[in-house]
Amino acid sequence: MPQAGEGHNNRKLAMKKNEKKLWGGRFEGSASDVTERISRSVHFDSRLYRQDIRGSIAHAKMLNKIDVLDANELDDIVVGLAQIRDEIDRGEFLFLDSREDIHMNIEAALTERIGDAGKRLHTGRSRNDQVATDVRMFIMDESAGIDSLLAKLVSVLVETAEKHIDVIMPGYTHMQVAQPVRFSHHILAYAWMLVRDRKRLADAVSSCSRLPLGSGAMAGVNYANDREFLRNELGFNSVIMNSMDAVSDRDFMLDFLYFASVLGMHLSRFCEELILWSSSEFSFIRLADSFTTGSSIMPQKRNPDVAELVRGKTGRLYGNLFSMLTVLKGLPMTYNRDMQEDKEPLFDTVDTVIISLEGVTGMVSTMTVNAQRMQTAVRSNFSTATDLADYLVRKGVPFRESHEISGGIVRYCETEEKDFFSLSADELKKFSPLIDDEIVTILDPSSAPERKISAGGTSRSSIIEQIRMLRDAVETGL
Ligand code: ARG
Repeated sequence: MPQAGEGHNNRKLAMKKNEKKLWGGRFEGSASDVTERISRSVHFDSRLYRQDIRGSIAHAKMLNKIDVLDANELDDIVVGLAQIRDEIDRGEFLFLDSREDIHMNIEAALTERIGDAGKRLHTGRSRNDQVATDVRMFIMDESAGIDSLLAKLVSVLVETAEKHIDVIMPGYTHMQVAQPVRFSHHILAYAWMLVRDRKRLADAVSSCSRLPLGSGAMAGVNYANDREFLRNELGFNSVIMNSMDAVSDRDFMLDFLYFASVLGMHLSRFCEELILWSSSEFSFIRLADSFTTGSSIMPQKRNPDVAELVRGKTGRLYGNLFSMLTVLKGLPMTYNRDMQEDKEPLFDTVDTVIISLEGVTGMVSTMTVNAQRMQTAVRSNFSTATDLADYLVRKGVPFRESHEISGGIVRYCETEEKDFFSLSADELKKFSPLIDDEIVTILDPSSAPERKISAGGTSRSSIIEQIRMLRDAVETGL
């Protein structure tokens, strides 16, 4: 009798000794223990059960349509598979490790329950086209949820930007203060990245949406399979027209893993900023207690662990992409068992993307913004030196000369231990006779963003336009 145990995701997993393999006919001896152990995948690929059952039901309907299965057999198969699916949903189905993978577990359980009809199900199909179909459907199914999480994060960023539209902060290049920007402009830069991520995800989904099922092991099958019927039943966009390509292609998975890697890169950049901004040296933001952790030794600490973990998890996302690229490198046509190694990286990427998006969304929607600290930072670093140069350009000075004059004023301030605001009008006029009283407004960082009148700049009207466009993008999914 099988020993019940807990498998992946609390699923029951057991061994059944000496069960005849579904492919047992050709074999005299049984597989060695290590062959069994290295081959089995049901402890992780059981996660494909919904897609596997959906694919089998479509396949059975198609077999009925081409008169391989009669109506009663089809009915038994559909009812039996639905029952198995519900049992798995409830955690009551017993997976057998000895049945190797999810496909053989479901097929063998079905046959145990309904007899001969179950044995006919695999007619005109191979696990090679079956598994390729399952993983494509899995990515498409999971992508719907991931896309909503992306849309949610874009919305949260847009709301944050809108709420703090008038907060001015230093913008950086080389991590050195560059020019004053709106905090909202900085935040919305990330929203735009995520809009591109959604587009990349949609592209990955469309490369998944090409149907391998009906290709058999690799050469096609000896039945007039109605692949268009299968395509329509399973909601794929098109049918793959080369059976060898159909079973050996995993490009769609690489597309998805690449989408996830780029997303991870974006999130890691944002998290790096959240970590920096929440340090006591910056204090631009304060992360909520619920998104920080304490130290077991230093009582004063509030560590941004969620941001650090999301930043760190980017490593797994890149690693999973590289695992798959490496598994596929040099593989000859067509299906090779190496390909079974595709699932764990895929599942890990899906889980990592989901938890990362949830973590970042939670942090952003609960953080507080310290406008005062940003104001102090933007005033103490000559952030309007470029505006000063542009002011002189307006008075007719060539930019290269005005740049020189502005640089001279900064140098003078540094030697005199002054900032732009402690300079008297007379001191300033010594640098150029063209400088007049308007200079006070020019040097003020809070008025600088409004002078950025080019499209896509950091002015208030540009932020309002970006918010409008981003809301539109969230709604239309573009
Ligand atoms: N578990 C296998 C996989 O995930 C299914 C396909 C097995 N095909 C085979 N020819 N052994 O790739």
